[in-house]
Amino acid sequence: MTTISQHDFYGDGDSETSISVSVIENMKEEYGLFVWPCSVILAEYVWQQRSRFRGATILELGAGTSLPGLVAAKVGANVTLTDDSRKAEVLENMRRVCELNKLNCNVMGLTWGVWDAPIVDLRPNIILGADVLYDSNAFDDLFATVSFLLQSSPDAVFITTYHNRSSKSSLQWTSSNRVPDGEMGSKVR
Ligand SMILES: C[S@@+](CC[C@H](N)C(=O)[O-])C[C@H]1O[C@@H](n2cnc3c(N)ncnc32)[C@H](O)[C@@H]1O
Repeated sequence: MTTISQHDFYGDGDSETSISVSVIENMKEEYGLFVWPCSVILAEYVWQQRSRFRGATILELGAGTSLPGLVAAKVGANVTLTDDSRKAEVLENMRRVCELNKLNCNVMGLTWGVWDAPIVDLRPNIILGADVLYDSNAFDDLFATVSFLLQSSPDAVFITTYHNRSSKSSLQWTSSNRVPDGEMGSKVR
């Protein structure tokens, strides 16, 4: 079933304008067609920090329904939304959501750990990822992509929101068992 959800972000003064973003969701067994709570939180963060995002180059990884990237575009960022290249339906939905909101974002397939996308040409200031740390089997590929992007744009940061669903698949558990201490720390918010 396809639905359209509306997400409102309110300014805090008379001179501020509020914004509204509409998202097309589909209650299928496809993670990228649903607005996950992490996405709502990251979108609110983008809105609260909008002066930092205005004019910045933003890359959203595993964007799915893309709420954080859409808010960034609404406040004047130059946004590229990406998701798994194999997920045609998700990528098509991302294009439809951009049209629905009259936003001119770049939409492209970018599979973590795969270098077939023009990833070298992307020089983001800020990399966003909402709920992209949900499958510990994909952590290495995700971090390989994020590391590559951070190395090609030394001033960039990766901002992510994370949902701790179980202690054994948690980022903390996996990090303490697999990722050398401090390897990513300073650039991950
Ligand atoms: C839990 S959903 C989060 C979607 C969206 N960011 C949100 O918070 O609503 C995880 C997203 O990561 C994408 N994803 C999973 N594995 C991926 C991979 N190997 N490369 C790129 N994207 C991937 C999925 O297609 C999905 O859109």
